[in-house]
Amino acid sequence: VIDWLLDKSIYFSFDKSGYKRHQRSFQLINFEQGLGTILITGGSDGIGASLRDSLLENNQKVIITGRSEKKFIQHPNLTNKSLDLSNWEDIKSFAKELPVIGQLVLNAGGMPEEYSENSEGFEYQLSSQLLGHLVLFNELHKQKKLSPSAKILITSSGGMLLKKLNLEELFHNKNYDKVSTYANVKRAQVIIWEELAQIYPEYTWASMHPGWVKTRAVTEALPGFYNFTQKRLREPSEGADTLLWLLYQKNLPNGEFWFDRKIAKIYPFPGTQESSENRKSLLEKVFKAISLSN
Ligand SMILES: NC(=O)c1ccc[n+]([C@@H]2O[C@H](COP(=O)([O-])OP(=O)(O)OC[C@H]3O[C@@H](n4cnc5c(N)ncnc54)[C@H](OP(=O)(O)O)[C@@H]3O)[C@@H](O)[C@H]2O)c1
Repeated sequence: VIDWLLDKSIYFSFDKSGYKRHQRSFQLINFEQGLGTILITGGSDGIGASLRDSLLENNQKVIITGRSEKKFIQHPNLTNKSLDLSNWEDIKSFAKELPVIGQLVLNAGGMPEEYSENSEGFEYQLSSQLLGHLVLFNELHKQKKLSPSAKILITSSGGMLLKKLNLEELFHNKNYDKVSTYANVKRAQVIIWEELAQIYPEYTWASMHPGWVKTRAVTEALPGFYNFTQKRLREPSEGADTLLWLLYQKNLPNGEFWFDRKIAKIYPFPGTQESSENRKSLLEKVFKAISLSN
């Protein structure tokens, strides 16, 4: 009952104490298996960098992307690529250079202060965190560069749990609010992941959220939240734990949303579920935007 109450509180679930409490039921990960080459977007800092380091420690081959080369490290099993995920032409050229990818971790994300658009006219967070990631998936899929056993993971956010999908805000973002836009894009990610699990069942799709983690994304983009929660934030390795665990799991159910190694509800709060028309419309708009074809 106490665990249930603490989880309901959100605060004592998404924070470090929540991780420590949930960790009590974790099983050891079997690191023996090879995973093929793992591509992590946003693998140069924070949660993605922690995942990169754990995988390198376990002798996996890793490719990471990030915009700033200053954040890159050198390692014999690591390839770094400077890439902005809002730049779809660069993503397409990058995909051509890639070898077969065993696992795809779509983790890059952030909350820019000001409104901007990519060259196709989509708002920056949408164009990079949702659409750019799908452009990357689509290129790899078309070029048969995704291993048939690939998992396709995406780092969403617990911040989307309070947000109902807003299609107007997503595609015609007239009054840009960085936090609301972020929650909306993260909400769209988990919806799309459920849908793609049906459309491309040959891959294993999983979305997740890391809890509240002490990274630049929080310290720089949300200084007020950081000041309030700094002693309670998770370490990057704690935020990355579910991604790491998912990569090593066999026979995962497809299209689920995960938190601390457990399936979590995507609509725990009333009034946050989109209509089936809006879900369908989201899928159509996303497919049209990146000219995906199934
Ligand atoms: N920290 C949290 O509490 C928290 C909570 C919920 C969800 N998340 C999510 O977790 C993911 C990782 O965030 P983090 O907290 O680890 O933040 P972080 O330390 O700022 O790392 C973000 C990573 O993504 C890259 N990146 C950001 N925007 C990019 C873009 N447009 N194109 C290419 N790469 C980009 C960054 O490198 P460059 O800046 O050099 O490009 C960096 O490698 C994000 O999706 C974030 O939304 C974080």
